[in-house]
Amino acid sequence: MTTLRLRPESPADAGPLRRVLGAAFARPDVQTPPEVGLVDDLRGTDAWLPELAMVAEYGGEVVGYALLTRVWVGDIGAAPALVLGPVAVAPHRQRVGHGTAVVQAALDAATELGERLVVVLGDPAYYRRFGFGPADRMGLTSPWSGLGEPWQALTLPPSASGEGPPPTGEVLFPPPWSKV
Ligand SMILES: CC(C)(COP(=O)(O)OP(=O)(O)OC[C@H]1O[C@@H](n2cnc3c(N)ncnc32)[C@H](O)[C@@H]1OP(=O)(O)O)[C@@H](O)C(=O)NCCC(=O)NCCS
Repeated sequence: MTTLRLRPESPADAGPLRRVLGAAFARPDVQTPPEVGLVDDLRGTDAWLPELAMVAEYGGEVVGYALLTRVWVGDIGAAPALVLGPVAVAPHRQRVGHGTAVVQAALDAATELGERLVVVLGDPAYYRRFGFGPADRMGLTSPWSGLGEPWQALTLPPSASGEGPPPTGEVLFPPPWSKV
């Protein structure tokens, strides 16, 4: 039986992931969707957390991706958080659960690492299944005004060491995000 394998990305995945992202975010008006360059650019920054770049592999083929990278709340170096995205599944493997599985695997890995807060910009109809809710109601603002409902956040379960409440304030994104 073919099973879905969920694992952090390795260097050999970069090409296949470009193809998955390019196909998932394809639009008639752009040759290469910005999400492809976003991932390539983030890989070279301090925001990159190798354990949290999660790949879904089906029958040996890379079919899905969920990326969590570092953002900061309040000020750079103040309170760490994560941003989820891009999330993508190859069009020929969509709607069979791979997206849900790879996002949940990334969130579980973040919980294991003791991370507390994840933000996302996306369709609430999709992200609420993971527990995301309106980020503004959690006291989180973004550098971009008027994002509305797509601006969401999720508090991860506290780690064994016990943590205080999640941070509130403006979420600061590393430069590659301003190109998307
Ligand atoms: C969004 C995406 C990652 C979902 O992956 P997937 O493997 O198809 O998702 P799953 O099979 O795990 O889940 C399918 C469910 O998500 C819903 N869904 C899929 N895409 C959705 C979307 N864009 N908005 C809202 N719901 C969506 C389906 O209706 C289905 O709902 P159900 O479980 O109630 O039947 C995938 O469709 C994709 O790559 N889309 C293009 C890129 C994109 O939009 N990424 C997200 C950016 S915010």
